[in-house]
Amino acid sequence: MSLVDSFEKIPVQIYENDKIASASVAREISDLIRQKQKDGKTCVLGLATGSTPKTLYKELVRLHKTEGLSFKNVVTFNLDEYYPIEPDALQSYHRFMNVHLFDHIDIDKANTHVPDGTIEKNDVRAYAAEYEKKIEMAGGIDYQVLGIGINGHIGFNEPGSGRQSGTRLVALDNTTRLANAYEFASIAQVPRLAITVGINTILKAKKIVLLAWGSHKAPVIRESVEGTTTDHVPASFLQEHNNCVFVLDEGAAQELTRYKSPWLTGEIDWTEKQIRKAVCSMALDLKKPILMLTSNDYNNYGLSDLMVKFGSAYDINLRVFNGMRDTITGWPGGKYSEDVPRHPERREPKSKRVIIFSPHPDDDIISMGGTFIRLHEQGHDVHVGYQTSGNIAVSDEFVMRQIDFAVEFDSIFGIDKSRANGIWQDARAFIKTKKSYQKDTEEIRAIKGLIRRTEARATCRYVGIKDENIHFMNLPFYETGLIEKNPPGEADVQITMDLIKKVKPHQIFAAGDFADPHGTHKVCFDIMIEALKRLKAANDESIKDCVLWLYRGAWAEWDCWDVEMTIPMSPDQVMQKRNGIFIHQSQKDGVVFQGSDSREFWQRAEERNSGTADLYDRLGLPKYAALEAFMKWEY
Ligand code: F6R
Repeated sequence: MSLVDSFEKIPVQIYENDKIASASVAREISDLIRQKQKDGKTCVLGLATGSTPKTLYKELVRLHKTEGLSFKNVVTFNLDEYYPIEPDALQSYHRFMNVHLFDHIDIDKANTHVPDGTIEKNDVRAYAAEYEKKIEMAGGIDYQVLGIGINGHIGFNEPGSGRQSGTRLVALDNTTRLANAYEFASIAQVPRLAITVGINTILKAKKIVLLAWGSHKAPVIRESVEGTTTDHVPASFLQEHNNCVFVLDEGAAQELTRYKSPWLTGEIDWTEKQIRKAVCSMALDLKKPILMLTSNDYNNYGLSDLMVKFGSAYDINLRVFNGMRDTITGWPGGKYSEDVPRHPERREPKSKRVIIFSPHPDDDIISMGGTFIRLHEQGHDVHVGYQTSGNIAVSDEFVMRQIDFAVEFDSIFGIDKSRANGIWQDARAFIKTKKSYQKDTEEIRAIKGLIRRTEARATCRYVGIKDENIHFMNLPFYETGLIEKNPPGEADVQITMDLIKKVKPHQIFAAGDFADPHGTHKVCFDIMIEALKRLKAANDESIKDCVLWLYRGAWAEWDCWDVEMTIPMSPDQVMQKRNGIFIHQSQKDGVVFQGSDSREFWQRAEERNSGTADLYDRLGLPKYAALEAFMKWEY
């Protein structure tokens, strides 16, 4: 048994990303289906919904379409469904399964089962018993696919669910309702109840594969795999199953001991980053500044190996301290007036062309407002590429307010705008009767996009950049009017390449937000990387001298050992940034599709930037009011 196994109580497979991981799971499922076909048997699959299995279903559809995988002998049972809900509602899991899988394969729909969200409450108990019976009659689940909630739920078995629980009606945790609120216009519309199969039902499956993508799942993955079995983390009960595996991407695996403290699980390659990670983790855990760490601390923390390799605690402390200190600079575009050795950015050219890619119209100011302002003030030619219109995140009330303005404007000035008036009337009428599951008309989406565009432009004016340096890219993948976006395509990459070719940047700043691999930020990142790779492969002049810096989105910050440039902010600069964020009025005072964080964007940004400053302080580095942090990315 390797040391890794002594921490991990469930076998874990880690893949570079969710696509590669899903391809491997899809291959296993297709092998099983084919084997059963050969044996003249049915194959019983237990299926999950949510964002996680989408890549898996896409791959299964591909295997059906291109490799002739047939689902004629497949019977499926889904884990859960909201209650109450109509099967054709936009957010129902019935609809989800049809849209993502069943409508695209040759499965007999009579063989598919998703708990019914329309059953009378009094009948649910009998219905649940029947559901279990059907699974048994079908021969039991051969292969169960699971996702995991950030609170450790599997199916909708929330914390507190017993090991012996069966199919039943459950109340959804507030954290689950918040996490799933992104599918609904507001948290109030997320159902409070659900029907779910039980933990015991899940554990009866012959094989269980739990999938998890993204760093937001990492803490609960660690608890489930390395913690003790407890009903506080229902997924930990999977430790009792003898044929269960967790299939993860690197983000979801990052809290496992083998990643977090690799020196505890065996031999490691001591790169500069790894040394920094070990020493900073130790300093933070022991609540000591880096320069106060002793050889005793190194020994007790399992880092004696590091001392053998790199000298005394004193030497290593200095090495890490100096490295961290050198990340701090007030000159994000390089310091031309002075030759500073080990400065994170090049000195030449004095005035750099810069593109800030902003996935939504406010990420530039939220995530790197201080740096944005400095770059401009220090004489760099700063351009902003607003990647998407951000039009779904504007409330109907806000649109109504703007419509009132426009209509009054026309009447005050006696402008004859019969066409405009028609659009306003239609939009008003639509919003008045709009149902929660309805998507906006094209006109309303255009108005919402316009609102966000004017806010972004106002922010650029506030910073001082010229109108011609503002680029609204309106990437088409985003334009569905729904939370569910189109897959990124050729047009998205072309628009991005065109902008890069036009600006010929020395620096690009972009959102490196990998927490949610299906979120808009990550899709925008993938599109930009594809554009850069293509330009690089073509030896295109426009990027021959271009460095890519990543900021992280509004939710989290880089680990301090990954940071390569930090820009300090004074208390006054923090206020200046806050006022810049306030310009985005449509995003203030509670926004649509808020997700699980109820703080306003300016609060998130400030807490995060002061948090980074506090972290540097705890490590014994200079104390600032706030720090914006960046990581360099090779493309
Ligand atoms: C869905 C289900 C849930 C999800 C979990 C993760 O059928 O049973 O347990 O798997 O909430 O959701 P996503 O994948 O959206 O993060």
